Amino acid sequence: MITAAQMRDRFAVVTGASTGIGSAIAERLAAHGVHLVLVARSADKLEEEAARLSRRHGVTVRALPLDLATADAPTRLAKTLADEEIEVEVLVNNAGVSVRGPVLDGDPARYRSLIDVNVTALTELTALLMPAMVARGHGAVVNIASTGAYVPAPHLAVYAATKAYVLSFTQALWAETRGTGVRVVAVSPGPTKTPMNARGTRTAEAVATTVFRALSGNRPSVVDGYANKLTAFVFGKLAPKRLALAIARRVMTRAVPRTGDSISL
Ligand SMILES: NC(=O)c1ccc[n+]([C@@H]2O[C@H](COP(=O)([O-])OP(=O)(O)OC[C@H]3O[C@@H](n4cnc5c(N)ncnc54)[C@H](OP(=O)(O)O)[C@@H]3O)[C@@H](O)[C@H]2O)c1
Repeated sequence: MITAAQMRDRFAVVTGASTGIGSAIAERLAAHGVHLVLVARSADKLEEEAARLSRRHGVTVRALPLDLATADAPTRLAKTLADEEIEVEVLVNNAGVSVRGPVLDGDPARYRSLIDVNVTALTELTALLMPAMVARGHGAVVNIASTGAYVPAPHLAVYAATKAYVLSFTQALWAETRGTGVRVVAVSPGPTKTPMNARGTRTAEAVATTVFRALSGNRPSVVDGYANKLTAFVFGKLAPKRLALAIARRVMTRAVPRTGDSISL
């Protein structure tokens, strides 16, 4: 576990901090006196967010515009942190993208980019930044998965598969690093109202609360909200796979809009 007091006056890196869940997590960390490095592509939004958080909460906030789909982004981020002598206490791998629709209708290049952000960058950043935490004997890595990690999702197949990776990877890492003093946890939101998902029912702030609770606990993975917990349990564990898939297909065919941007679960 890691408490708010242990994080105070130390640095957290939050990826995907320009909007949605990442922005809510950054706000919550800043409110607890945690200095921040904010990462996303939109430089203007990040700068605005950094200035706002720093003014409001009196913490140091560094905006670092970076496209995590590019191959050298994680090493560039790690190098910048090292050059600026920023010791990372908390890494929140939150940046994520989704692509909706049947796999065969999709653009393979977009799948590569999605996997680069959701899987590759998350894995590499963890491997780059966590060893120093283990060497110091304290710190935390939070990886944002999804309830889609618990059951394959037709029409969001690639997205849900990347989230299953995030869940599995994080649980294994939790087991590997027990006793090191570093907290590792996967947090899975369900449908949450953000620019990624206009139909979400939970709020980004509620997810941020769940992240904070998860940090002070010891479990390898946590699902946000009671209804999402039930969904993950029933579809992930209780229902036979064929039945779970049949229901998921029905639900997703209705839920995923034909037009509009994207939706996630
Ligand atoms: N909303 C939901 O219903 C829901 C449900 C389950 C899980 N989640 C997960 O929660 C996390 C946050 O989602 P959200 O709903 O808050 O989405 P969001 O509002 O769309 O935010 C996504 C964040 O990721 C950043 N990002 C996207 N592509 C990037 C790239 N190539 N390089 C760097 N940053 C990038 C975006 O900033 P830029 O565009 O400026 O780069 C933005 O800050 C994701 O991992 C998502 O899969 C969301």
